[in-house]
Amino acid sequence: MAAIESVLKENRVFEPSEAFQSTANVSGMAAYNALCEKANQDYEGFWGDLAQEMITWKKPFTQVLDESNAPFYKWFADGDLNISYNCLDRHLADKANKTAIIYEKDDGSSENITYQQLYERVCQFANGLKSLGVGKGDRVIIYMPMVPDAVVAMQACARIGAIHSVVFGGFSAGAVKDRVQDAAAKIIITANESVRGGKSAPLKVTVDEALKDGDCPSIEKVIVFARTDKEVAFDAARDIWWHDLIANQASECEPEWMNAEDTLFVLYTSGSTGKPKGVQHSIAGYLLGAMLSLKWVFDHKPDDVFWCTADVGWITGHTYIAYGPLAWGATQIVFEGVPTYPNAGRFWEGVEKHKVTTFYTAPTAIRSLIKLGADLPNQYDLSSLRLLGSVGEPINPEAWMWYYETVGRSECPIVDTWWQTETGSNMIAPLPGAVAIKPGSCTLPLPGIMVDIVDESGASVDQSNGGFLVIKRPFPSLLRTVWGDDERFKSTYFPEELGGNLYLAGDSAHRDENGYVWIMGRIDDVLNVSGHRLGTMEIESALVANPLVAEAAVVGKPHDVKGEAVVAFVILKGDRPEGEDAKRIAQELKSWVAHEIGKIAQPDDIRFGDNLPKTRSGKIMRRLLRTLAKGEEITADTSTLENPQVLEQLKQSV
Ligand code: WTA
Repeated sequence: MAAIESVLKENRVFEPSEAFQSTANVSGMAAYNALCEKANQDYEGFWGDLAQEMITWKKPFTQVLDESNAPFYKWFADGDLNISYNCLDRHLADKANKTAIIYEKDDGSSENITYQQLYERVCQFANGLKSLGVGKGDRVIIYMPMVPDAVVAMQACARIGAIHSVVFGGFSAGAVKDRVQDAAAKIIITANESVRGGKSAPLKVTVDEALKDGDCPSIEKVIVFARTDKEVAFDAARDIWWHDLIANQASECEPEWMNAEDTLFVLYTSGSTGKPKGVQHSIAGYLLGAMLSLKWVFDHKPDDVFWCTADVGWITGHTYIAYGPLAWGATQIVFEGVPTYPNAGRFWEGVEKHKVTTFYTAPTAIRSLIKLGADLPNQYDLSSLRLLGSVGEPINPEAWMWYYETVGRSECPIVDTWWQTETGSNMIAPLPGAVAIKPGSCTLPLPGIMVDIVDESGASVDQSNGGFLVIKRPFPSLLRTVWGDDERFKSTYFPEELGGNLYLAGDSAHRDENGYVWIMGRIDDVLNVSGHRLGTMEIESALVANPLVAEAAVVGKPHDVKGEAVVAFVILKGDRPEGEDAKRIAQELKSWVAHEIGKIAQPDDIRFGDNLPKTRSGKIMRRLLRTLAKGEEITADTSTLENPQVLEQLKQSV
């Protein structure tokens, strides 16, 4: 991959500036090393002290880590708390009138919501949910636009002990249905429609489609938020408007006191096999990870204006919008739109308008903005910025340098944060007042995170050799299990081959002479398209579900903006199509995948053959498909192939 190659040649180093270091929450390498040393010496004491310091407990815990049923670890297991209390109530004494959320609407107007107002909105909605019989442990699907009310819905669930599962608003009816069924959810919270980039998407219609034919018998009610005045079909027995639900509800709601290990949410993500898995997080450990990383990695200060551009449909939006900033009593932006509407200056205009100090986005957004106008940031006053962040995929040094120089005036550190849905919060990232940064490396693990790089047997590899990225000790914000599938949790994340006690992240990586970690990419069949995780199997199953398709194999190919693009090799039931026919069918299949999963999964490139390249035992040679997808010549030995003649056919894009 071109990006990886340029990463490998990178050797620039940027030390923290004295100015930044002098006010940093963790200042200087000695302070970083001291934290790491404390974690090494007394692992439980380290985490226990932090959990006591940062979290407001209803009932304090007495045990930090329970490893008796490894790898089903428990943290702070006899403590009680409520995360919504930690995000709202505890700020009311001194921050009631502080802005919690600046709602930056798609059309460019904005609205401020104070902590007092947010608290009242969450309480009212929580009371509304209770009036529908929702309580502790019930699952609630949230399929909403990026509006503050999505955060309200999440916080309200947490307040009453219901488990939320947010489904990204760009996913299809089929994806909604799969998640409702897997979680046996009782309620769906949605909107009549979403508005992004000047276009609307019919969320309620999609929910109706997901629920049709009695496919989701667990659903009792659908709550519909009116984002616009667009009318939608209503099932009088099942559907209820958000505003009607809260109309007579009190604006106070006693939080449900929860156990530290109770489940906070389930978020579905792609793996290498089967359907997306429900990554299950518990309350206290997750909250601690969110708070700590904001303090250490984002160097959070009370006057910051924090802007994470993610959607709450992804883990980044959970941790760095719905929970982390609120737990600190921060002011943050909730952005409804897209970076390119009405033009590619949208982010920079937002930074100028709201005097944003901390800006967190994805490499794919940076690359697309460079393409649309590398000089655009210079037209805005970005002097409020003091820290930049990157997440979701490796950032190539070219994009990094542009972000650093043009957006950050060569003054703002960039925190390249490596983590996953499963880890709940940042794992490897610079503490910006301490760790020198190198373009393309996520640098060093956070204190307390015991990272290693190992071979197939679980043994550490020599410095500079690549291998599997693992975490050697359990940490508080780690997923607890895969919803309803403990076996899958064990075999995916704590595989016996590696000894059964290493957390296998699913990425390959290597370390340089300073111990800095460089992420190489996934080791499984997971693609990273514009920072979104997609399983090749999911896309293959969607394709094969089309009546025309006999067989399909999906791989990734490098793409300058998206990082990776989806390439599908398709065998039809009838003859291999050619010319106009091939074009028409390819288009039909692209739309089919968009409809089955969501637009993000739509293949960029479809190729038809009489068959897939298979060994004589029938195994698909994916390695060859990856080479073909990249448009490279095949140099590997193809003599074990049953059908080498298909390679010529599969070289050609439609
Ligand atoms: C990739 C997103 C390189 C990685 C928070 C990981 C990264 C997957 C980085 C998780 C980074 C995330 N550098 N690669 N800074 N951050 N990744 O679950 O492959 O959507 O395993 O969580 O994204 O994606 P997920």
